[in-house]
Amino acid sequence: MPIDYSNREKSYELYRKGKREGTWDPDDYDLTQDREDWEQFSEAEQHRFLATCSGFYDGEEDVTRTLAPYMMALDALPNDELPFDTVQEEMYLAQQVYEEAKHTDLFSRYFEEVFGTQNTAPYREGGYQEQGYSTDDLYDTADDLLAAVNSGDRTELVYSLGEAYLNYMGIVEAQLARGGYLSFDQMIELKATQMGRDSVLESFQQAIGKVRQDETRHIENGRWVMKQLAIAEPDIVADVYEPRMEEYVENRLLSDPLYDDQPFEGYDPDRIGHQLVQYLQDTIDYIGAERFDQYGDVRAALEAETAAD
Ligand SMILES: [Fe+2]
Ligand SMILES: [Fe+2]
Repeated sequence: MPIDYSNREKSYELYRKGKREGTWDPDDYDLTQDREDWEQFSEAEQHRFLATCSGFYDGEEDVTRTLAPYMMALDALPNDELPFDTVQEEMYLAQQVYEEAKHTDLFSRYFEEVFGTQNTAPYREGGYQEQGYSTDDLYDTADDLLAAVNSGDRTELVYSLGEAYLNYMGIVEAQLARGGYLSFDQMIELKATQMGRDSVLESFQQAIGKVRQDETRHIENGRWVMKQLAIAEPDIVADVYEPRMEEYVENRLLSDPLYDDQPFEGYDPDRIGHQLVQYLQDTIDYIGAERFDQYGDVRAALEAETAAD
């Protein structure tokens, strides 16, 4: 048997943690008060809040639909030649795909029962998918993985997996989704203050808290696998990780803020920007900053790029 219970790796331990934490049900939340709160949002506030929620609804569906080829690519690798057990990681991903389906389920229900629509398109116009980085890219990533599975070439499989984990766990989950949570935090807090309340959209906040907890495991597993792939093929850092991170940095961290008009008085996008730089640094530190040429120190790299412009 490839799985050895006495030698459980990170992915197995995160799977076990997920069995304990990831059992929540989106159907359990009573949305009555959230519906009343939502009516107190102005049209501009609703539109802005829906822009971020639409990114999540679309994004959760995209990640649910594109994760399966990761398992196939892991299974096509020669397990005994690698520094980690691909089967334990496949177990982990089997759990993750269920959790992503549940996140899609949550947003689907919330859109229907609170926002009164299933249509995200009007809220995504001018949004991030036009800034060169979106969860739409995950479909191409999945195709690349399937091509690598068909080729059976070890280096192609490792490189395709490295790019896939970086896109999905390293960027979409660790950067884009977590930026979204910080945005929700600010909008909700500012709206509650404006209404003289302690809190608004409480069921939303509780359910998103569960999503965040799941995503923390997804991100940690992704970082761990990226590190294992860098141990297996050290050139992957210069060939795959750094160019993809640079693309993200150029398109997102160094670009102008997406929304000029902030209907929530006091909204502070810079605070989110600073946090996102730290998240990227955390991913790099987990993989091993010493393996990186350009982005070992993200803040210094950003300053150099800004000065060069
Ligand atoms: Fe998710
Ligand atoms: Fe996730």
